[in-house]
Amino acid sequence: MGRVSQLPVVLATRAELEAWHRSHSERRAVVMTMGALHEGHLALVDAALRVASTVIVSIFVNPLQFGPGEDFDAYPRTLDADVRALAGRGVAAVFAPSAAQMYPGGRPSVRVVPGPVGEVFEGAIRPDHFSGVLTVVLKLLALTRPDVALFGQKDAQQLALIRQMARDLNLPVSVVATPIVRDDDGLATSSRNRFLSASQRQAALALPQAIDSGAAAAAQGAGVDEVRRIAGERLARAGDEVSVDYLDVVDSQTFTPLAEGVADSSQALLIGAIRVGGVRLIDNAVLER
Ligand code: PAF
Repeated sequence: MGRVSQLPVVLATRAELEAWHRSHSERRAVVMTMGALHEGHLALVDAALRVASTVIVSIFVNPLQFGPGEDFDAYPRTLDADVRALAGRGVAAVFAPSAAQMYPGGRPSVRVVPGPVGEVFEGAIRPDHFSGVLTVVLKLLALTRPDVALFGQKDAQQLALIRQMARDLNLPVSVVATPIVRDDDGLATSSRNRFLSASQRQAALALPQAIDSGAAAAAQGAGVDEVRRIAGERLARAGDEVSVDYLDVVDSQTFTPLAEGVADSSQALLIGAIRVGGVRLIDNAVLER
C-alpha cells in the first residue's frame, strides 16, 4: 500500500495501546483531539511529524469537560471520516477509546485542580471545564507516553493550563503550541463551526475581525485600553445574533487582565468569546507591543 492511502492503525482499548507501545520505542508525539478533525488538527499533526518520527492522534470526546446543558451529546463523532482524513499523512496510530476504557470506574474521584488560571474567562463561564480537560490530558499523557504533546494556540487558556500542569507536576513531556488556522473568511477552524448556518457564520466573523482590528492597533503602538476599545467597537456592531461572553487583553500565562501603562515583560493576548445561536466560539491573538 502506498503512503497516500495508508491508514493509521486504530487502537480502541488500553490493552491494544499497551501492545503497540512494545513495538514502538522511537521519539513519539501525541496530538490530542475530540475528533471531527479539521485543518487546525491536521496542522497539529503536520507539526508533530516535524518533531517526532512516530505520531499518535487521540480521539476522545471527554465527558468530564462538558458541563450540564453543554453540547456533549451533540458534539460531532466522525471516527471513520477522521481516520480517513489522517490517511497518508504519516500518523502511526489513532487511539480512540470508549468512555468505559478511559474511565473504567465511572467519573474519577481524583482530578486535576487547575488553580486560579482555570477560574477566569472560560473557567468562570464553564465551571469544572478545565479540571475535566487537565484530568483527561494527564491520563492521555500517561497512556500514550509521548516525548512531545502538541496543542493549538486557539485554545489559549487551555494551552496555558497544560503548560502550567506540565511545569507544576514535572511531567516528562515538551508542550508545543501551533498557530491558529483560519478558514478563508478568517474564522478560526473549530469542530463546532459546522453547526453555524450561513447567516450565523457571517455574524460570527465579527469575532476574528474584532481580534484582528485589536491586534493591528497594538502593532501600531496602541495601548491595551485602546486595543480593548477598538476590538469592542467591532464586536458591538455584530448585531443581535451575537452575544459576547468576554473580550479582554490578558497576560498569556496568568490570564490576568493587563493594565494600561504598566510596563511588564509579559506576552499580551487579546482574547474573545461569543455565542451565535447555540454555538460558542473563541479566538485570540498575541499582541505585538
Ligand atoms: O482541545 C481539545 O480538543 C480538548 O480539550 C482536548 C485537549 C483533546 C482534551 O479533551
